[in-house]
Amino acid sequence: MPENPAKARRDELVAMYHEVHECRKCPLGSVRANAVFGMGNADADLMFVGEAPGAEEDRQGKPFVGRAGKLLDELLAEIGMERRRDAWICNILKCRPPGNRDPQPEEIEACKPYLMRQVQLIEPRVICTLGNFATKLLTGSSTGITRVRGRPQEREVAGLPVTLYPLFHPAAALRTPAVLEQLRQDFVGIPELVRRERHEADEPDLAMAGTPGPPDLSQLDLFAG
Ligand code: SF4
Ligand code: URA
Repeated sequence: MPENPAKARRDELVAMYHEVHECRKCPLGSVRANAVFGMGNADADLMFVGEAPGAEEDRQGKPFVGRAGKLLDELLAEIGMERRRDAWICNILKCRPPGNRDPQPEEIEACKPYLMRQVQLIEPRVICTLGNFATKLLTGSSTGITRVRGRPQEREVAGLPVTLYPLFHPAAALRTPAVLEQLRQDFVGIPELVRRERHEADEPDLAMAGTPGPPDLSQLDLFAG
């Protein structure tokens, strides 16, 4: 039997998960409670990239499990999506900056290879960057989120062609009702973007074709525990 590439990719993700949990490449490694690798469907076409774990994420070792994460789940539900089935969710930094301060450039530099490797292994077609840090890092442009949000951009990330879809950070939406309204409107565009990318890649859309979806999704739900 030839090796199943999906299995090989998942094995590599598991190996990287352990590596991240031991990582001390930047000072955050010695002050975290838990590293936050990422969670979701490792075969998803859609990826969300946030900034860094907060207090609750640090406590649980999972991304977006605090108030911002609850909002993210609500917005996903509104477009018929669910994090474990439809997306991979992670952050630029895998460890929490003390007091939720901004990520420092040298921390981003040290941690970035993990994110790039996650992109290479998961091969998302659409990456939603949440907030300024993820947007600037992955677009490679210093233009702020307010100007670029809701507009898909074709880019190369980690050597792969992807559609970047910059969005406001859910934490910002929790602070400002007008931002929440824009974020909600931008979310409406996500399913169509994912569908379009799938078709461009000439892949049969399993759901639309009425055939059964990928078997046993629970097995693909890495780290969701
Ligand atoms: Fe390693 Fe990233 Fe954690 Fe720094 S933030 S210790 S680079 S995993
Ligand atoms: N904010 C982030 O950027 N990431 C999380 O995982 C939680 C809150």
